[in-house]
Amino acid sequence: MSAPGNVPAVRRLAATDLEALAALHRRSFPHDPWNRRALAEILAMPGAGGWLALDVAGRPLGFLLVRRAADEAEVLSLGVDPERRREGIGGRLLDAGLESLAAEGTARLFLEVAVDNPEAQALYRARGFVEVGRRPAYLSGPDGPRDALVMVRRLGD
Ligand SMILES: CC(C)(COP(=O)(O)OP(=O)(O)OC[C@H]1O[C@@H](n2cnc3c(N)ncnc32)[C@H](O)[C@@H]1OP(=O)(O)O)[C@@H](O)C(=O)NCCC(=O)NCCS
Repeated sequence: MSAPGNVPAVRRLAATDLEALAALHRRSFPHDPWNRRALAEILAMPGAGGWLALDVAGRPLGFLLVRRAADEAEVLSLGVDPERRREGIGGRLLDAGLESLAAEGTARLFLEVAVDNPEAQALYRARGFVEVGRRPAYLSGPDGPRDALVMVRRLGD
């Protein structure tokens, strides 16, 4: 758990966060980092947006990127600084995204998660996501392509 007084805040991503976002992505996905330019292109896609978690000193701790289309949305990426995991930061980011997407009228949030990523799967299951499919060799990993589980969470029920 976070120490009292060091509870991370979560806010919407801003254009000025690209450098911090790229650094966090690199630390979260060292085998497939998205650089600043790639992230700028992703965030420029219609319906794309995200959230950033920061400590009390304003240091970035984690991020969530989503894309919304009509009444559905997908998680594009989620990552937490490896030194600050298991403190509830990923959950807080997901909660912020779920709340905001529900308020905007999104009915379902989809995501893909690697079959060999039990940490993320546990987080998603704890937030009400259920498995609805599997995509072979869909995600890149340190040892090559990995199958992904497709998961979905209904919003606003
Ligand atoms: C997945 C990830 C975002 C989780 O972030 P986090 O801040 O550590 O997650 P939280 O502390 O909010 O954990 C919330 C819940 O998720 C589950 N969970 C998270 N990490 C876990 C682990 N190592 N083992 C088991 N369950 C875990 C637990 O249910 C946990 O609740 P609990 O601590 O009350 O038991 C983080 O591990 C990460 O950045 N991983 C690398 C990038 C990645 O895989 N992203 C997801 C791609 S789909």
